[in-house]
Amino acid sequence: MIACLWLVWLDVYFSFLFCSEDGKLSCGYSSFRGKRVTMEDFYDIKTSKIDGKTICMFGIFDGHGGSRAAEYLKEHLFDNLMKHPLFMTDTKLAISETYQQTDVEFLESERDTFRDDGSTASTAVLVGNHLYVANVGDSRTVISKAGKAIPLSEDHKPNRSDERKRIENAGGVVMWAGTWRVGGVLAMSRAFGNRMLKQFVVAEPEIQDQEIDEEFELLVLASDGLWDVVPNEDAVSLARGEEEPEAAARKLTEAAFTRGSADNITCIVVKFNHNQIGSTISEDQRQNSD
Ligand SMILES: *[C@@H]1O[C@H](CO)[C@@H](O)[C@H](O)[C@H]1NC(C)=O
Ligand SMILES: *[C@@H]1O[C@H](CO)[C@@H](O)[C@H](O)[C@H]1NC(C)=O
Repeated sequence: MIACLWLVWLDVYFSFLFCSEDGKLSCGYSSFRGKRVTMEDFYDIKTSKIDGKTICMFGIFDGHGGSRAAEYLKEHLFDNLMKHPLFMTDTKLAISETYQQTDVEFLESERDTFRDDGSTASTAVLVGNHLYVANVGDSRTVISKAGKAIPLSEDHKPNRSDERKRIENAGGVVMWAGTWRVGGVLAMSRAFGNRMLKQFVVAEPEIQDQEIDEEFELLVLASDGLWDVVPNEDAVSLARGEEEPEAAARKLTEAAFTRGSADNITCIVVKFNHNQIGSTISEDQRQNSD
């Protein structure tokens, strides 16, 4: 018998000018699907211009119990956010309301199915020079500032004392079953979907924000397939070692794989180049998947 291993890489690379700062922002994506035939990690990258400000949005959606929630987030989350009336004026509130409303709409769209898909969402939204990182679940966003790794989200693990308290106050339990799990089932304390645990497993995001300055070098968004085996500091130093964000993203997924991570490793790397002043809008896009 020959064991058949499906090793699939997906890479996307594109770069564009980050107009509001005369600097160049480029990003790359890499995903390793591992042995499983079904892929439950999704990502989304969108750019737009609203009221003269450049908007960039990056998201990692790591599904569990099926891919439907993660796929739904890829399709709807950023569109919903841009349609929110307060997106430009009270971005934090808009993100928080959009996350929760999108969860309600996903559950509504799945009402007649007998499914219980769920997903994380780790997103980074740039409005001009201001960065908002919002998180639900155990995907994570880390930045590098002057060479220092700084996490901009705290994983929603059921044994976080504040999360455990919130779940217990709502009448739930956190139990050990190989790892800490809500109701002995789910190994994260917040998620989209997960209808059966919705009372405890909410889609309310935690949001941190930062002004992009000269010291701001890069952004790494990734699913737990990376963070389980690659510490924040290693991720940042690996990503800084590569010129191109696509190569950096690929290096990170490779590092996670060689360090023994299970499947579904997905990451986005965004690099800021503060010195480069471009006079033309350049946008090129290369895609390959094999
Ligand atoms: C939660 O549990 C994990 C083991 O599953 C442990 O590594 C971690 O330190 C714990 N975190 C807290 C906040 O207790
Ligand atoms: C990858 O996806 C599978 C389902 O296709 C899931 O069971 C598994 O937990 C995921 N692995 C990781 C590391 O997220």
